[in-house]
Amino acid sequence: MAAPLRLGIAGLGTVGAEVVRLIESEGRTLAARCGRSVRVAAVTARSKAKKRGIDLAGIAWANSPLELANNPDIDCLVELVGGAGEPALSAIEAALKSGKSVVTANKALIAKHGVRLAQAAEKHGGALNFEAAVGAAIPIIKTLREGLAATGVNRVYGILNGTCNYILTRMEQEGLSFAECLKDAQRLGYAEADPSFDVDGHDTAQKLAILASLAFGTKVAERAVYVEGISSIAPEDLRAASDLGYRVKLLGVAVRTAKGIEQRVHPTMVPKSTSIAQVMGVTNAVTIDGEGMPPITLVGPGAGGAATASAVLSDIADIARGVRVKPFGRPVDRLRVTEKAPMERHEGGYYIRLMARDLAGTAATIATRLAEQKISIESIVQRHPNGGVDPGRSAGKAAPVPVLLITYATHEDAVYRALQAVQRDKVISGRPQVIRIEKN
Ligand SMILES: NC(=O)c1ccc[n+]([C@@H]2O[C@H](COP(=O)([O-])OP(=O)(O)OC[C@H]3O[C@@H](n4cnc5c(N)ncnc54)[C@H](OP(=O)(O)O)[C@@H]3O)[C@@H](O)[C@H]2O)c1
Repeated sequence: MAAPLRLGIAGLGTVGAEVVRLIESEGRTLAARCGRSVRVAAVTARSKAKKRGIDLAGIAWANSPLELANNPDIDCLVELVGGAGEPALSAIEAALKSGKSVVTANKALIAKHGVRLAQAAEKHGGALNFEAAVGAAIPIIKTLREGLAATGVNRVYGILNGTCNYILTRMEQEGLSFAECLKDAQRLGYAEADPSFDVDGHDTAQKLAILASLAFGTKVAERAVYVEGISSIAPEDLRAASDLGYRVKLLGVAVRTAKGIEQRVHPTMVPKSTSIAQVMGVTNAVTIDGEGMPPITLVGPGAGGAATASAVLSDIADIARGVRVKPFGRPVDRLRVTEKAPMERHEGGYYIRLMARDLAGTAATIATRLAEQKISIESIVQRHPNGGVDPGRSAGKAAPVPVLLITYATHEDAVYRALQAVQRDKVISGRPQVIRIEKN
C-alpha cells in the first residue's frame, strides 16, 4: 500500500472535530476505497486546552494555521477555521505554494479569493477542493465540475441557506411573521445572533458565485451577484402564493441569458409542482438545467458537523487517490470575467401585491397602468379582509383591500414604471410588494 496521506487540520470546531472523528471511525473504509490510509498528523485551533471530545493523542499541535501549512510532515492542509481573510487565507496560500493540497469548507474565502488560490494550486500542482463550501453534504461541486463536464448548463438555482428556508417554511405553514420565525430559528441554533448575513442573502450569494463559476466558466465574483433578502416577506404573501399555486423560497439563480450570465439572490415564487418547492425546513437543494436533459435536483443537509465533514472527507479521499481536477473545472486562464447583470433588464413573471383603496375605478386604473407598459396579467385576485378569495370582484367600500396579480413574462423596469404610475394615481396605499417568479 502507498504511504499514508498526512493531514494537517486547522480548526477543530463543529466541522473540524467531526472530521477527526470520522477519520477515526471510517479510516479502514477510506483506506480500502483509496488504496491508501489517511492519517491526521497535526492540528491547530485557537485553544489547545479546550475539551473537544476527540482523541488527539499522538497528533502534533501547531501554534497557528500558517505554522501547520508550513509543516513538512503534512501533505494536505484541511482548513476548517472559516472567514474570508486571515488566518485561513495565508495558511492556504502557503500550503499551495509549497505544493501541498488543500481541502476547505470555507465558502467566504473561495467566493473572495477562489481564483487567486486556484491559480496557486495550478502553478504548484496541489489540489484545491471545496465540496463542503456549498450545500455541505450535497455533492454539487463535483456534479457540476465532473459529472456534467460535457454538458452545457443553462441555469443552476437552489435553496442554499437553511436558515432562510426554515423561516419561510414556518411562516408558510403556521402563518407566523418573519420576526417570530427568526427568533425561533435563533433559539434552535439555526440562525446566528447576528442573522443579517443569512437573511439578507449574502451567504446564498457567496455560494451562488461559486456554483456559477463551475457551471458557466466565469471567474467567481461575489460582487457580480444581485442580492435581496427575505425580511420584507409577509405571511400574507406566502398565503397568496399558496392560493395561486406557488411557494416562496430564497433562491440563488445563475442563468445564461442573451446578455450574459445573470446571478441573483432574492425571494422567489416557484410553482408548487417543482422539486425545489417541496424542499422544507433547513434542507438545501440545487437544480441544474442541463442542455438536452430534464432538470437534475440534488437535495440534502446543507449544514451540520457530520454532513459537512462527509463532504470534507470526500475531498480528502480524492487527494489520497491522486485525483487532481482544476478547482473550477477548467484552467484559471480560461475563466471569463463576469459583470453584475442589470436587474432592470431582468425578464420574467412577477407577483405583485397592492393594497387597493376603496375608490371607484381602482381595478381599471391598475389594469390600464400595466397595459401601458405592455404587461399582460396572468391572474388577478382580490382578497377580502375576512380572508376569502374572490377573483375579479371590484373593491368594496371598506378599508384598503389586497389585490394580487401574477404577470406574464415582462421586464423588471416595466413593472416598476407601472407601479410608480399607480402610486401617482393614489389608488393604492403603502408600498407594493413585488416577488419575482421562476418557472421551470
Ligand atoms: N458548521 C457548518 O454546518 C458548516 C457547513 C458548511 C461549511 N462550514 C464551514 O466550515 C468552516 C468551519 O466552520 P465551523 O462551523 O466548524 O466553525 P467553528 O465551530 O466556529 O470552528 C472554528 C474552529 O477554528 C478555530 N479557530 C478560529 N480562529 C482561529 C485562529 N485564529 N487560529 C486557529 N484556529 C482558529 C476555532 O478554535 P477554538 O475551537 O479553539 O475556538 C475552532 O476550532 C467555516 O468555513 C464554515 O463556513 C460550516
